[in-house]
Amino acid sequence: MELFQVGTDPWGQEILIRLSWGLLTLAFWAGVAFVIFHAVYAVVWKPKVETEASGASTAATAKIPEQIVRHNGAARMFHWVMAASMLVLLVTGFAPIIGLEFSWLDIHWIAGLILILCILYHIVHASFFLDFWSIWILPGDLKEAVERTKRQLGQQADVGKHGKYPLDHKLYHLAVSVFGVIVSVSGLLMMMKVENPIVPFNDTYYSDATWGLVYVLHGLSAVLFVTLTITHIYFAVRPEKLWITKAMIWGTVSKEDYLSHHDPKRWDVTPPKPKAKPRAKPKAKGSGVGTPKPARGAAT
Ligand code: HEM
Repeated sequence: MELFQVGTDPWGQEILIRLSWGLLTLAFWAGVAFVIFHAVYAVVWKPKVETEASGASTAATAKIPEQIVRHNGAARMFHWVMAASMLVLLVTGFAPIIGLEFSWLDIHWIAGLILILCILYHIVHASFFLDFWSIWILPGDLKEAVERTKRQLGQQADVGKHGKYPLDHKLYHLAVSVFGVIVSVSGLLMMMKVENPIVPFNDTYYSDATWGLVYVLHGLSAVLFVTLTITHIYFAVRPEKLWITKAMIWGTVSKEDYLSHHDPKRWDVTPPKPKAKPRAKPKAKGSGVGTPKPARGAAT
């Protein structure tokens, strides 16, 4: 199977044009194959994952609220706008390739700009208002990776409970971040090649060979999003993951679900203690301003 579509530049040299769309078929069937394999594996082989309440002391769990906010309103809005723009991009990008002709380009770049705005908004929101490190793979995740691999191989393993996000969610987020940036940057550049009111037309900005590379990068990340989207939707509707999906709709998870899956030490959800009021400083004698008044009748 060809990986790229190739052509020749004005000097007769071979250059890349874009990705070969055989890879679209491959990405689609890879996603479907993963879903079938996982669904069968989950029924036939998967060792029962323990979901008993956490080892946290009763005193500690008493402070945990009955409903825990997993995603606030702003984070949920980001997720659903991004999901809608991604689905529109997949349909408008690939429908013409599989033979469904319609005027897709304007809808495509508008959805692309919405996706880019979502990503920029998310970067600011996650950096300054959310727990930034909770979604990134850190050295502490190595143990979980080893234990999970052992469990997959049917060996005795101590996977334990995770913080806000388990390792597989972190890996997925990493893949989406990397390919989301590549598809967005290449898409923005490609806007120079089509008439639109935002980016001035300039198809000579790059040489033909470099444009070919930009199209290959856009196509490659686009087809990977086919596999990533199929697997994402599959996990979202799996019965044992519905509590997570519901949290992306309503925002909260129950205390029971929280204690079954999360380690309270790694994702602390107890309400912060109210800050003690600072005691008024006694002022230097005779300074006047702010000197505590003696109680009525007290000796001075
Ligand atoms: C996951 C999201 C995306 C997918 C699945 C996707 C898919 C595609 C596909 C398959 C093509 C045809 C490429 C070719 O003919 O070689 C395309 C073209 C294009 N995409 Fe995207 N794309 C995505 C995101 C974006 C973004 C974020 C932008 C930026 C605004 C964008 C802007 C464009 C433009 C302007 C073209 C047309 C280029 C041309 O025909 O010369 N895309 N996209």
